[in-house]
Amino acid sequence: MKKCTFVLLCICLFSYLHAQEKKIFNETPEQKEKRLAWWQHDRFGMFIHWGLYAMPARHEWVKSREQISDADYQKYFDQFNPDLYNPREWARMAKAAGMKYAVITSKHHEGFCLFDSKYTDYKATKTPYGKDLIREWIDAFRAEGLKVGFYYSLIDWHHPDYTIDRVHPQRPADTADYKKLNQGRDMAKYREYLRNQLREILTNYGKIDILWADFSFPGAYGKDHNDWNSLELIKMIRQLQPGIIINDRLDLGEYEDGGDFVTPEQYKVSEWPTRNGKQVPWETCQTFSGSWGYYRDETSWKDTKQLLVLLIESVSKGGNLLLNVGPTARGTFDHRAQDALKAMGEWMQVNSRSIYGCTQAPPEFKKPDNCLLTYNPTTKRLYVHLLDYPLQNFTLPGYQGKIKYAQFLHDASEIKMSAPSQHHAVGKSIGEGDVNLSLPVKKPDAEIPVIELILN
Ligand code: GLC
Repeated sequence: MKKCTFVLLCICLFSYLHAQEKKIFNETPEQKEKRLAWWQHDRFGMFIHWGLYAMPARHEWVKSREQISDADYQKYFDQFNPDLYNPREWARMAKAAGMKYAVITSKHHEGFCLFDSKYTDYKATKTPYGKDLIREWIDAFRAEGLKVGFYYSLIDWHHPDYTIDRVHPQRPADTADYKKLNQGRDMAKYREYLRNQLREILTNYGKIDILWADFSFPGAYGKDHNDWNSLELIKMIRQLQPGIIINDRLDLGEYEDGGDFVTPEQYKVSEWPTRNGKQVPWETCQTFSGSWGYYRDETSWKDTKQLLVLLIESVSKGGNLLLNVGPTARGTFDHRAQDALKAMGEWMQVNSRSIYGCTQAPPEFKKPDNCLLTYNPTTKRLYVHLLDYPLQNFTLPGYQGKIKYAQFLHDASEIKMSAPSQHHAVGKSIGEGDVNLSLPVKKPDAEIPVIELILN
């Protein structure tokens, strides 16, 4: 066989195998795109981590970190009474920040259910508060026009049949002790519980837009898709809520459609994530200060600019931002969270056009120094976010002939364009095809000013 025929055959086989990636559902790429369209348009959501751990107020993993026994953790359940809970206020704050959807922990790893479940007494309705927190939340967020989603912890540190693994509060110091500790625990029963509860939250609260299952940790003394029976779960989820968008933490990565989007957590991606060379939908989840649950003494809060950059940079690489609030055990957003949301809202109020409906800019637009670019493919506008405000003359490299009009986004004031002058490029020859923008010396009153370029 000739060498080139062989190479050609290899390429064919390779593409065939790729095209044949394992799938669970028979949805076409176009159908998936349509299902995810609102989410990819909206870009910015609120994550809410709330549970009993708001009371110790030192991380939502406190039960595991400090290896607290069920008996010692019980005091939080007995005292739980968020008397100032007003989800309508939360929803208003989310909306004013520019968020379009929200995802709340219906149950976190500690096992406490914010919703009323037929299958356990470890739930809000049995605490001194006595009401279904999720019911109130759903009604409030829907009323403010926000899309709603549930986080549901696959992990459960309270259920008696959930086997002890390497992150469980009761994990042994010596691995030889797992067997003894797990005697009498039956994961099959827990699997049933999990399935029943997922059915409850996806049946009892109307249309649910997102499901955030969390998380799998395969390997020694870990848990993977077999422990949850993920394949059957995802089928049930999609059957109960056909339009729902599901994250990627059920450990079904061997299937192309084992999750709708990838979830880089607490870090910035260097570029748009791919699978087999194809860009995939993604959402980064981030905290204000490090922990997800309310953490009273944490001081590592990000500032407004860092938060805005998280949002803009995500969109500039084709992704979403799910930004977390950990409400207090009184049921309020603490003032640091409120201030952060307010500051983001002020920026979004006049700049959201560079976020909603936007994505990564086409490659023909080179990123100027200290900038982030986003692009709206429908309106064909390009947004230049000035992270470090330049001094007067600002060069757009190779943009000549591509721009019809330039303005600041926040006040729609014209920015004059000209060909770059040699006067501004001492010691180097000016780039052909560059465009010069004449910016005011004084930085506009915006944390990150945005230039809107209306393209030809
Ligand atoms: C991690 C943590 C958890 C948090 C989640 C958010 O998986 O276990 O505390 O809920 O990240 O993405």
